Amino acid sequence: MNIKKAVFVISNKNVKGCPAPSMPEFAFIGRSNVGKSSLINCLVGQAGLAKTSAKPGKTQLINHFLINDNWYLVDLPGYGYARTSKTTRAGFADIINEYIGGRSNLICLFVLIDSRLEPQKIDLHFIRWLGSNEIPFALVFTKTDKLKPARINENIETYKAELLKEWAQMPPYFLSSAEDGTGREEILNYIDVASKTF
Ligand code: GTP
Ligand code: MG
Repeated sequence: MNIKKAVFVISNKNVKGCPAPSMPEFAFIGRSNVGKSSLINCLVGQAGLAKTSAKPGKTQLINHFLINDNWYLVDLPGYGYARTSKTTRAGFADIINEYIGGRSNLICLFVLIDSRLEPQKIDLHFIRWLGSNEIPFALVFTKTDKLKPARINENIETYKAELLKEWAQMPPYFLSSAEDGTGREEILNYIDVASKTF
């Protein structure tokens, strides 16, 4: 898919203020600092569209971007950042639950996982919650430029083994790097096909 146009639309604290759910939507979630905003910028080919930071906790609202005038990309706050206050953290959890659980036009939630790490409890727990709430999702293993391919493959095999303890099959998954563009075409093609189901 060609990205001809990508514009920021609105930031919201809750679902009420989000654009009318009249177009297909794809959102990005995962632990703080995993690379959600960077991946969005990589997908649309605009470095500064979604705000990124080396410090975790940068994205704090639900951010809608309108792509090619006919679908939305959504940048969400990260979960699991220990340094934010308890109240802020609970606020994020509310935002995330309300948005994910209640957004009728959400075609697929991309759950970003740091490809360098062992399976993390918080991610596995979140994925289980998605399953029990029947939220359609795909996994994206991020920052693959930071490790040798053999290590990445090893880590992904470990992840698969972990998920297959609970799931009958692997959900769709992608390898990505916002640095070198790995996975960009595959993710955009997936979105292209999936958005036709709307
Ligand atoms: P929050 O908004 O805080 O939840 O973080 P986020 O998940 O949106 O992460 P963000 O995109 O802001 O990236 C966090 C840091 O990781 C930044 O310093 C990015 O430059 C870096 N980063 C993100 N993706 C990649 C990647 O694919 N490769 C490399 N090497 N660095 C990356
Ligand atoms: Mg962010």
